[in-house]
Amino acid sequence: MSEELIKIKQEVTQKFTLKYNQKPSLISIAPGRINVIGEHTDYNFGLSMPAAINRWVVICFAFRDDNVIKMQAESFQNEMVYEAGKPFEATESWMKFMHGALEIFQRTDKITKGFNAYIWGNVPLGSGVSSSAALEVATMGLLRKAFNASFDDVTLVKNCQKIEHEYLGVKSGLLDQYASQLSKAGNLMSLDFQSLTHNYFSAEIGEYCWVLVNTKVKRELAGSKYSERVEETQAALKEIQAAKSTVKHFRDITISDVELLKNPTVKSRMKHFVTEDQRVFDTADAFKANNLKKVGQLLLESHYSLKNDYEVSCQELDFLVEKSKTFDGFLGGRMMGGGFGGCTINLIQKSKLKEFEAFILPAYKSAFNIDGEVYAFDMVDGACVENL
Ligand code: GLA
Repeated sequence: MSEELIKIKQEVTQKFTLKYNQKPSLISIAPGRINVIGEHTDYNFGLSMPAAINRWVVICFAFRDDNVIKMQAESFQNEMVYEAGKPFEATESWMKFMHGALEIFQRTDKITKGFNAYIWGNVPLGSGVSSSAALEVATMGLLRKAFNASFDDVTLVKNCQKIEHEYLGVKSGLLDQYASQLSKAGNLMSLDFQSLTHNYFSAEIGEYCWVLVNTKVKRELAGSKYSERVEETQAALKEIQAAKSTVKHFRDITISDVELLKNPTVKSRMKHFVTEDQRVFDTADAFKANNLKKVGQLLLESHYSLKNDYEVSCQELDFLVEKSKTFDGFLGGRMMGGGFGGCTINLIQKSKLKEFEAFILPAYKSAFNIDGEVYAFDMVDGACVENL
């Protein structure tokens, strides 16, 4: 375990003890994630290439002597108090996630005793690096361990997706939760949402590195536009199936099948899906061939596809990509995650990292009067729960 994480564990343990006046017995740790390529493909059974990063949600836990569940989240005011079978109203948004986790867990398993939990996190919120998924995965993992449930990791990930669908009203895919649970340090993951399988490969890129630039733009439209894309692509699949009976799944659709679609907007949406999946294959090949220049090109192609065909970018993200392209030492980059704000992910020459930061942030500030942020990161192991 990294020094950084050891320090965080100590800090959260102390905070728990200060709040609840007892020692925690369990600690649950779940990371945020990046995604190199394969965006808006997961809910249509496509492909992605994520990794967990060294930003975490950490929860300390201890049983109580009664049946009450009390939870406190760092930097939020209210304590959540929940009792199975009693009505519950979330007064802060993080409580919706916890409520969902508790209720969904109890569909298959029993919470036999009350507990206290203290939640801490350093995953930037609303930035496309999956702070929500980290919270869900940390909570579901904790419940599984505390109450000896036997479901496997893929079921855990699916349970977390149910929280999004049923308690947040977002019909998201499995990318974020899967990466948070199943990543491996120093590796990227080739993730196939059709078979729900993955394989790891080394994320070593020599004299280059990955960098995030946060637009700090709140993703207000994200929820409704996200659902719109889910519906548009599902309707497109049906339309193609009606015209061509051999198409059973999204993954059967070829680029020429896209031409069967009548509406130009719907055609563009499906074009993004088909070409993005191909870019994931091509990126894997480019990594194998150690061709980072090609990886960079594919990132830019992905960005333009998300911007023009899928229409989930925004002017701040587009600005960052265009400006970064003029930086010597930049191989490629794109918007990352759900879109409409959040971060770009960029492939940069390692020795020029500071220079890049000094270049991009002032330019962004003068264009939008927003203080962006640049993050370097490590690729870390997926979630774990430990006895203390
Ligand atoms: C959000 C969703 C994911 C995925 C990405 C886009 O992060 O939660 O399921 O769809 O957007 O790739």
